[in-house]
Amino acid sequence: MTTSPTLLLLLYLTLSNIVILIKLVNCTSSDHNYLDALSKSILFFEGQRSGWLPLDQRLKWRANSGLGDGSSRGIDLVGGYYDAGDNVKFNFPMAFTTTMLAWSVIEFGEAMPPYELRNALVAIKWSTDYLLKTVSQPGRIFVGDPIIDHNCWERSEDMDTTRTVYSVEAPNSASEVAGETAAALAASSMAFRRFDPGYAETLLRNAERAFEYADTYKGAYSDNESVRPGVCPFYCDFNGYQASSGDELLWGAAWLRRASQNDTFLNYIQNNGKTLGAEDTVNEFGWDNKHAGLNVLVSKEFLEGNVYSLQSYKESADSFMCTLIPSSSSSHIQITPGGMIYKPGGSNMQHVTSIAFLLLVYANYLARTSQTVNCGSIMVGPASLRQQAKAQIDYILGDNPMGLSYMVGYGPRYPQRIHHRGSSLPSVRDHPEPIACKAGTGFFNSSGPNPNVLVGAVVGGPGEDDVYEDDRADFRKSEPTTYINAPLVGALAYFVANPS
Ligand SMILES: *[C@@H]1O[C@H](CO)[C@@H](O)[C@H](O)[C@H]1NC(C)=O
Ligand SMILES: *[C@@H]1O[C@H](CO)[C@@H](O)[C@H](O)[C@H]1NC(C)=O
Ligand SMILES: *[C@@H]1O[C@H](CO)[C@@H](O)[C@H](O)[C@H]1NC(C)=O
Repeated sequence: MTTSPTLLLLLYLTLSNIVILIKLVNCTSSDHNYLDALSKSILFFEGQRSGWLPLDQRLKWRANSGLGDGSSRGIDLVGGYYDAGDNVKFNFPMAFTTTMLAWSVIEFGEAMPPYELRNALVAIKWSTDYLLKTVSQPGRIFVGDPIIDHNCWERSEDMDTTRTVYSVEAPNSASEVAGETAAALAASSMAFRRFDPGYAETLLRNAERAFEYADTYKGAYSDNESVRPGVCPFYCDFNGYQASSGDELLWGAAWLRRASQNDTFLNYIQNNGKTLGAEDTVNEFGWDNKHAGLNVLVSKEFLEGNVYSLQSYKESADSFMCTLIPSSSSSHIQITPGGMIYKPGGSNMQHVTSIAFLLLVYANYLARTSQTVNCGSIMVGPASLRQQAKAQIDYILGDNPMGLSYMVGYGPRYPQRIHHRGSSLPSVRDHPEPIACKAGTGFFNSSGPNPNVLVGAVVGGPGEDDVYEDDRADFRKSEPTTYINAPLVGALAYFVANPS
């Protein structure tokens, strides 16, 4: 007798719903509604949409915007996401966001109720449709818009700033953005494989093309003088190439290996690990630095397939995990008195969500292969990694010294004055007349709450003292970004299925 995967999935979802019900009945103070948080974390992406909005757009205070993007160069670059509280489309962090949304679906999609899995795929496609436009001409990567935007406090729907297009083409280099775009398209092809094989194939072919460009002309696009002013100081690859976009090349190759099973890419990560810097134990993971994520991703093949040549990736992943476990004897990542993972530099929640995600992914890889991590004085298993991840996610949702949920619209108390243009200005529905560039300043300065609730947005979050002032001007703490939310989608899905 055979059982269809759909039946199994349904049975699984029914069982997890029963678990959720039991959990709701047996409530304690630290219980969270992970399903509510998951739904909201995905809904947030609708608030960041650029381009023509569909009829089923759920955040109704948004409207069409950026409809002329690309026209200054005679090309169609409509769509994609505004990366944060502004109206700029930066391809580099957008691609990273997409990779992490896709990775969320790949690892934890089955833990999502079917309708949220669908919403997550829609959120990915909003970005991949745009990324496909940027790689449509071989060797060309369009890298987004200018700084002028930042001088305005303006709704996306009113944008009247110059929408300059920055692009790089062969033989000039763009390894970091092209490598990350390859990763995003390859990971997304895996997320879509079961649901839309044709689209998955298109994504994979374009991923290969983007990677070939990234690898053939090695170097960072942010080093190019004509592009630099547009991307720096916001999203320069500080981590750089050859100190630098080497991590995006390996990351792109690792995703292509996983999506295609093509040995060309396995050889690439085996042979170039050292020269491209993978063997440095760099305990970072975010839009600028892929090392810790790369090590976790590649470890899967080492753990499951015993590909001995990949051992160094697994060792680096292990040592990263040990820094996250307080009882281990290795040197530790900073944890605030309230229990939050902290790294200097602002927008701290990006580290919290991406590290919580890696903890859960690595825990799954270890659990499936019955392995543990040797952290010197102690052996660390999946349960400890999941416990640390849960502490981080619960902190975000309200278990913190401020007693505040850092996700807008979740729980009884959440940030009211986020650094986000559209959220803080009257919506085009309530106020159809345009609000010009500088006319928004009064709303920016206002001490009142934002009129439009950007449901699901997670802000940069508190400082190392766990204090959060809810101050719109303090963008390091009060601005949401797409790459804070993307890994959170996967982590929340895990806790929907495994609430305790
Ligand atoms: C920067 O990139 C542009 C577009 O690809 C190219 O025309 C220009 O020569 C590059 N400049 C440098 C200094 O590499
Ligand atoms: C593997 O990838 C390489 C590089 O993209 C390509 O040339 C080759 O045809 C691929 N092999 C298969 C079996 O698809
Ligand atoms: C907004 O605040 C800034 C700095 O506090 C001040 O200089 C400016 O005059 C204010 N503008 C408006 C329109 O309230």
